[in-house]
Amino acid sequence: MAWRHVLAAALLASPSGAWEVPDSLYFTGQGTTAVIAAGTVPADGSRFACAGCHGADGQGKAEGATTIPPVTWDALTAPTGLRPAYDATSFARAVQSGVGPDGRALSAGMPRYMLDDAQLTGLIESLKQLQAIDRKAFGPRDLRVTADVNDPRLRGFADAARAFNDQGGAYGRSVAIVKEGDALALDDVTGAALGVLAATSEALLFDHIVADGHRRIRWQTALSSAERDFHLRQRGLLHGDGARVVLWTRGSAAPPPPETVDILYADLAVAAPSLGAMLERSVTVYLASPDAAVLDAALRDPQPISYVEGYLSGLALGAALTAAGRSAGQEALRRRLQDKTVAFPISVLRIGD
Ligand code: HEC
Repeated sequence: MAWRHVLAAALLASPSGAWEVPDSLYFTGQGTTAVIAAGTVPADGSRFACAGCHGADGQGKAEGATTIPPVTWDALTAPTGLRPAYDATSFARAVQSGVGPDGRALSAGMPRYMLDDAQLTGLIESLKQLQAIDRKAFGPRDLRVTADVNDPRLRGFADAARAFNDQGGAYGRSVAIVKEGDALALDDVTGAALGVLAATSEALLFDHIVADGHRRIRWQTALSSAERDFHLRQRGLLHGDGARVVLWTRGSAAPPPPETVDILYADLAVAAPSLGAMLERSVTVYLASPDAAVLDAALRDPQPISYVEGYLSGLALGAALTAAGRSAGQEALRRRLQDKTVAFPISVLRIGD
């Protein structure tokens, strides 16, 4: 692969800050030969792309007992407590022969690569670009997010962002919604956050149902009946078609008719439009939701589900930004958004009788 192509690929990658995989050598390993097992077994380099170990952001990671170091060009060309700074020559030696800038042999966990000069130059260019691409959307005082003005989730997202900013943001950085430029797309943020949020509220609701002592419930869900029964059995619960205790999660399932329900456990993101009808029929509703203010705002919005989705995504982004740390880039942010242990402030609210 010519280095011009590698460079162009790195420059073209993610122009809008969207989370896509660029096709440079760092990401594909294509056209190289990797030598693994301490220099004895040659293998197709595409099976050992750098990004697979050092991460799409080049930040490395701790994997069990092995620490995989960061390899962005800035990181390599700065000395650490463990080694002097790399330059182009010592970088080539590390990647081709597995020898560090201080003469230390790198562990067998780092493959050796047969690369020509053009490939090496291209690789260094992508290590320089990695950081720039990953840090797009981040200003010193803000994280920028862009959305189509007609996106119905924007209202909820903007409200959550305002609340996050009013509380001081994270590390002096607030969430800014911009028309264009280097920014994350709201679609990408909601895409990464919503699956985790749905699972989080479902787990909370199940805990509630079990603690409230119900045994037989009706679960209105888009899951197949086999999957549904599996989840219920795991928690010692049974499905009952006529049961008047109803759990309603996962959007594509039809709303339960209010006259068939005494107690409803629901995810705000699916139940918002039906709450009025439920409360009129004196159904007791337990709702997984961030707080009562969101609920009010959602009920006033013409598109309550989109409002809630936007709001929850905004909350999740704030939590991820805080958890990811001061110098995090997009990749670290995305990992946090998809991590269910990052605290999304959701609890179960009781509304109605
Ligand atoms: C199979 C996992 C794996 C792959 C694939 C991999 N590395 Fe590594 N790399 C490591 C590990 C583990 C270390 C740490 C070795 C040590 O310190 O002994 C390392 C160390 C390095 C170092 C030394 C960093 C320092 O601080 O001294 C550089 C440079 C490096 N890798 C670049 C690359 C490049 C460029 C590629 C792709 C062409 C690549 N690596 C592919 C696992 C990998």
